[in-house]
Amino acid sequence: MGFGKVDLRGRDLVCLHDFAPAEIAAILELAGDLKEKQKNNISHASLQGKTLGMIFYKSSTRTRVSFEVGMYQLGGYSLFLNSNDLQLGRGETIQDTARVLTRYLDGIMIRTFEHEEVEELARYAGIPVINGLTDLQHPCQILADLQTILEKKGRLKGLKMAYVGDGNNVCHSLLIGSAKVGMNIAVAAPDGYKPDEMIVRLAQDDAAGTGAQVDIVTDPVEAVTDADVIVTDVWASMGQEIEQAIRARVFAPYQINSTLVSHARPDYIFLHCLPAHRGQEVADEIIDGPHSVVWDEAENRLHAQKAVLAMLL
Ligand code: CP
Ligand code: NVA
Repeated sequence: MGFGKVDLRGRDLVCLHDFAPAEIAAILELAGDLKEKQKNNISHASLQGKTLGMIFYKSSTRTRVSFEVGMYQLGGYSLFLNSNDLQLGRGETIQDTARVLTRYLDGIMIRTFEHEEVEELARYAGIPVINGLTDLQHPCQILADLQTILEKKGRLKGLKMAYVGDGNNVCHSLLIGSAKVGMNIAVAAPDGYKPDEMIVRLAQDDAAGTGAQVDIVTDPVEAVTDADVIVTDVWASMGQEIEQAIRARVFAPYQINSTLVSHARPDYIFLHCLPAHRGQEVADEIIDGPHSVVWDEAENRLHAQKAVLAMLL
């Protein structure tokens, strides 16, 4: 498949910072094209004979199903590899695993805890490695989010996104993704839960090239004021279950509800990567309300990731 001047064949998707704005635009364009083809039953089986291994150290509904279905629709094959069932779970090194899997597969998707493990896998594998979520980042989610915003708003550059809640993996990838496409982003998080400073610096670096504004604040009203897009995520991510109670107290003023969204633009859209904890980070009236686009957002995981697979593998 040709993708204009952009050639991502053989590349890894570990962090969106590694991609130029034109490369992200090309992924989003192909995602829209593949969505159209899938809806109209037009064949787009560009990965016939190709196989994706999918390593999971953490639970998943959307990532697992969308990658598996995506590979199938592209004419390829995928293997679900639970980390507990791999020798990786018994101490075989990432380096050796990477070398061996390279001999069987055409690509690896991995969801794990330590971001460095994905970097190491990518370093030693001779095939593309795709980050399906780490404690630090969730780039595939943000490609689907950008596709969704583009569909609903017709543009990305110059919009204002407000992310309200924990400065977590989703927040980090949104910071970088927004900066890459020239979308302004204001993150509101309580002290002690602000995004990682190294990630904020990467986003600022990207923003310098696109004119995006990156603001990290404490007050949710300040972030949401005049926002075109409002995003939140769980207050306790996978691996932080033990902190659930304390986080519920700290984040209580950060719930997305009718009072908070009254400060946004009247045509704002609401995104959440899901799974949601209803009644915590988001009230039912918002996630089930007319501004919510979370189901389209979940669907776009399929289309955005198919674009990534078609271009990388
Ligand atoms: N949003 C997301 O990554 O969902 P899963 O954890 O279900 O894959
Ligand atoms: N921040 C959440 C995202 C889940 C898709 C987590 O890491 O659990």
